[in-house]
Amino acid sequence: MKTVESISFSGKRAVVRVDFNVPLNDQYQVTDLTRITAAIPTINKILKDGGSVVLISHLGRPKDGPTEKYSLKHIIDAVAKELNTSIKFSDDCIGADAFQKSSSLKAGEVLLLENLRFYKEEEKGDVVFAEKLSKHGDVYVNDAFGTAHRAHASTTIIAQFFDTAHTCFGFLMAGEVANLKKVMDHPAKPFVAIIGGAKVSDKIMIIEKLMDRADHIIIGGGMAFTFIKAVGGNVGKSLCELDKLDVALSLITKAKEKGIHLHLPSDVVVADNFSNDSRLNTCDITQIEEGWMGLDIGPATIINYSNIIRESKTILWNGPMGVFEMSNFEAGTKGVAVAIVSATSHGAYSLIGGGDSVAAINKYNLASKVSYVSTGGGALLEYIEQGSLPGISAIEE
Ligand code: 3PG
Ligand code: MG
Repeated sequence: MKTVESISFSGKRAVVRVDFNVPLNDQYQVTDLTRITAAIPTINKILKDGGSVVLISHLGRPKDGPTEKYSLKHIIDAVAKELNTSIKFSDDCIGADAFQKSSSLKAGEVLLLENLRFYKEEEKGDVVFAEKLSKHGDVYVNDAFGTAHRAHASTTIIAQFFDTAHTCFGFLMAGEVANLKKVMDHPAKPFVAIIGGAKVSDKIMIIEKLMDRADHIIIGGGMAFTFIKAVGGNVGKSLCELDKLDVALSLITKAKEKGIHLHLPSDVVVADNFSNDSRLNTCDITQIEEGWMGLDIGPATIINYSNIIRESKTILWNGPMGVFEMSNFEAGTKGVAVAIVSATSHGAYSLIGGGDSVAAINKYNLASKVSYVSTGGGALLEYIEQGSLPGISAIEE
């Protein structure tokens, strides 16, 4: 992968696509800096060379043009603080002001442009819009791993307006891919993939793909109940995708045929309401009573899953085991996080990806104790499924 390392940016202006789609609170303050921090080395390399940087990003999914809530002006201070320098901002990514500011950037200066998705053309992959964006610089750098699975104007289409000597990847992108390769190419065995989250439908492809590589696939979170229902269990009012029962069954069959251990929870923490104040119980996961819903894996499952994780040499984790945001239903997710940390300290390689599992690992202050925390969710899954991403192919091909 060709990175910013191989280009001297002296006297050059770089258009850098970053993924600053970061969470904001009600006061529009950034609540998780991970994605901003992760892009700093790339920006600093360009500035240190004597170049200047035009940062382009999306924030959220605005549907009706400019919207206060989705303005990137809210993150100016956070970016400036991480870069330890002031930055300029323009409130329209292709407006006259933006071009005036980008064309007059001096060496060492950084300009942040307003949310690309304020234009519908961005998500449509519009060529004219992409060409306009390309005019902001001499070199195009893609460091937006989290958005690299989208074939949008700024992530993919824009690359065609630069020759190969003037396109490259940032350090974050290269780091993400290098770490994913550790999991995908010749992972140390045993390899366990821990897949959680609400829906089976979101994870079918990834589970199938992982069967080519993993020795153990651990299922947790809301999606477990679709599997349990499919094998004849009673799931009460737990989350369940009734139209995916056949898919769940075929995954179980496939795992058997391939000799993969597909693990389902054996017990579950149930509540009579989706609330931390609801009545609680623990039961066999196949015998949830009417009116009750499973919101976390149970204590026996935590022990079983932790043992499998501790005996593994490669660990991939995507998706929480339960509703870890509520204290009564966090034990499963926390238990898995602790087991991953323990395995890592004994030499296992662990990669965590996806917004919710990353939020969980941060909640328990364990991010520094695993091998790699990805800035991608959808991008990570799609890379594992497809072996590449539109944002990567656009530069490499
Ligand atoms: C993300 O957070 O998933 C990326 O920034 C991409 O955003 P999107 O899912 O709205 O395309
Ligand atoms: Mg997404």
